[in-house]
Amino acid sequence: MKFNLVLVILVLIQQSTADYYKTKPSFVKTCVRRDPEFEDCSKQAVQQLFDALGPGLPEIDLPKLDPLKIPMIRILQGEGPVNVNAALDDVIVTGFGKTEVQLSQVDSKTYDFYTRVRVPKMRIEGTYDLKGKILLIPLVGRGQCWFEPTNMTIDIVSDVKLYEKDGFTFFNVTSAHVKYSIGGLKLRMNNLFDGIKSLEETTNAYLNENWRPVSESLRPILSKTIEDILLGFMQRLFNNLPGNFMIEDVKIPSKKYDKKDKV
Ligand SMILES: *[C@@H]1O[C@H](CO)[C@@H](O)[C@H](O)[C@H]1NC(C)=O
Ligand SMILES: *[C@@H]1O[C@H](CO)[C@@H](O)[C@H](O)[C@H]1NC(C)=O
Repeated sequence: MKFNLVLVILVLIQQSTADYYKTKPSFVKTCVRRDPEFEDCSKQAVQQLFDALGPGLPEIDLPKLDPLKIPMIRILQGEGPVNVNAALDDVIVTGFGKTEVQLSQVDSKTYDFYTRVRVPKMRIEGTYDLKGKILLIPLVGRGQCWFEPTNMTIDIVSDVKLYEKDGFTFFNVTSAHVKYSIGGLKLRMNNLFDGIKSLEETTNAYLNENWRPVSESLRPILSKTIEDILLGFMQRLFNNLPGNFMIEDVKIPSKKYDKKDKV
């Protein structure tokens, strides 16, 4: 099936004038690549990063990850089971602060990150304006809405390039790819059909009863939203945090390594 998805998320993270961390901040745990316990260490280190991102890092101009405020999301999706023209404004996402890191791996050659996290309960609320079809049901309306996915497991593959600055090695996260599964979804759209109450109630009930196909149909939209959010946060974080503080023996991009060197 071909999706023509156009999604616009208003840039969350403004330009920063802050300077990068010159000394290791307290929320960073340093791991050693050559250490056989690296994966375990890295999992704890990434957990500490998420714990610090929750309340925000004002010193590098990073807003709170929980609650996360997104001024607007615009969705235009032509084909497929979801046929949606939607706007979501003044969006507030809560739950990322309780993120549990389950796995963290770093590719030994490319330094790409592979991370698996679990978000027990997430809530997305905002003001919607919708005209389209979900599960073949034509939906029109505008008003308040919320979505609550539970037990979300997210696999994130991040493409990383290394660069050098002031003798440090930095991670340039160039893209992120997300796959997720959820254990449940509750949702509510107020004022569907511009307030025809009986239709609003039956439709909301139907969407909740059929949460699995509903969540499948929202997958491209939600995947892209999570990708954009995580990428924005990772880019700001790692452009301001020398990779050497995370991985003590991170390679130096300009150095030529012999085959016998374990890098
Ligand atoms: C959450 O989802 C994972 C993976 O799908 C599953 O193994 C686990 O049992 C679920 N946990 C809860 C509390 O539902
Ligand atoms: C990061 O990678 C992007 C895409 O390859 C590139 O345009 C950008 O200049 C890189 N940034 C740094 C600081 O190397």
